[in-house]
Amino acid sequence: MELNGKRVALGVTGGIAAYKAAELVRLLIKQGASVQVTMTEAATHFVTAVTFQALSGQRVFSDQWDPRVANNMAHIDLSRRADVLLIAPASADFIAKVAHGLADDLLSTLSLARDCPLLVAPAMNRQMWENPATQRNVATLRGDGVVILGPDCGEQACGESGAGRMLEAADIVDDLIAFFQPKPLIGKKLLLTAGPTFEAIDPVRGITNLSSGKMGFAVARAAREAGAEVTLVCGPVSQEVPRGIRRIDVTSALQMHAEVMKCAASQDIFVAVAAVADYRPKAAAPHKIKKDGGGAPAIELVINPDILAEVAALPAPPLCVGFAAESRNLADYAQKKRVAKKIPLIVGNLIDDGFGGDENTLVLYDQSGATPLPRGAKIELARALVGHIAKLLAAHR
Ligand code: C5P
Repeated sequence: MELNGKRVALGVTGGIAAYKAAELVRLLIKQGASVQVTMTEAATHFVTAVTFQALSGQRVFSDQWDPRVANNMAHIDLSRRADVLLIAPASADFIAKVAHGLADDLLSTLSLARDCPLLVAPAMNRQMWENPATQRNVATLRGDGVVILGPDCGEQACGESGAGRMLEAADIVDDLIAFFQPKPLIGKKLLLTAGPTFEAIDPVRGITNLSSGKMGFAVARAAREAGAEVTLVCGPVSQEVPRGIRRIDVTSALQMHAEVMKCAASQDIFVAVAAVADYRPKAAAPHKIKKDGGGAPAIELVINPDILAEVAALPAPPLCVGFAAESRNLADYAQKKRVAKKIPLIVGNLIDDGFGGDENTLVLYDQSGATPLPRGAKIELARALVGHIAKLLAAHR
């Protein structure tokens, strides 16, 4: 319920992507938002008002001259009652209208009369999108502080392929959730590691750690929502990367180390969430080790580099944050790690509390002691952690 209590005025304009707006309403409601739909006349040729009425549970407006609306002030009321006006899909024609301040139907009038932020998800044929007139209009909207969501690239309803597809409904919801988050990391670069590493013994076997990558991906998403430019170096995980994040896939600790060290010095923040294997086999066998030799094979291990400690030891290190997953003595072990790695903040969690799941319990340990974060969804905890990091960064510089 990440949009709990938010009032969304949703404008639907005429385009084949209008059918995706039905799914969008369903997802917005699922996240706790209330949705008031206004359609242009053209939109009603693609989807009927009844569809949106059934999904939103609210009356749908489309006619500026509807005599049932008291004082005919729907154009003011509809956007005045909202926290945000979202136009999805937004046709090329509608974008042109809003860019020029035209108000010749209900939706364009309420866009002009709004006192809330405007978010626009374009949807059109690729040539309409690429047309310099559309690009000029979109630039005008951006200059006016309108947030443009997408568009996506790919196959289009007309059979062509290119930029102009409306974002998927789930992506628009993610962008809206992000829109409502505070932005303390605008202009900051944040690098993080996530997931486990895998240290090969032979072509089919290896040493790894239990880590789903969920907590790291939640931190990446929260940092992106806060406005940071995020680079995520991650070991083998099945998670999908949130949009807008640069992802570098690695397998072993040595690869993770190499990728991190390539860019760590230019970062403002480094968050090491990965469960890096402490040891690796000295040399991976080139072929599968067979059982025919009799006894168990001896595998010689060597120590992996401590990525976090190395970044913290750079001449001008980014603000470094570590994670400590422990099965007991959390406070003691976490603080000892923080001091040993010479980092200002370490995030402790008890293994029983969060491994593999969507929830976790975290405690932030710094020089001044412990700050427990109440048990919650990993994304909520990640947002609280990012807020804490932003404060430390502000105090640090
Ligand atoms: O030393 P330990 O593995 O317990 O420390 C955990 C913290 O250090 C985590 O933030 C982890 O990502 C980081 N780490 C690392 N490189 C290693 C081992 C741990 O960056 N080789």
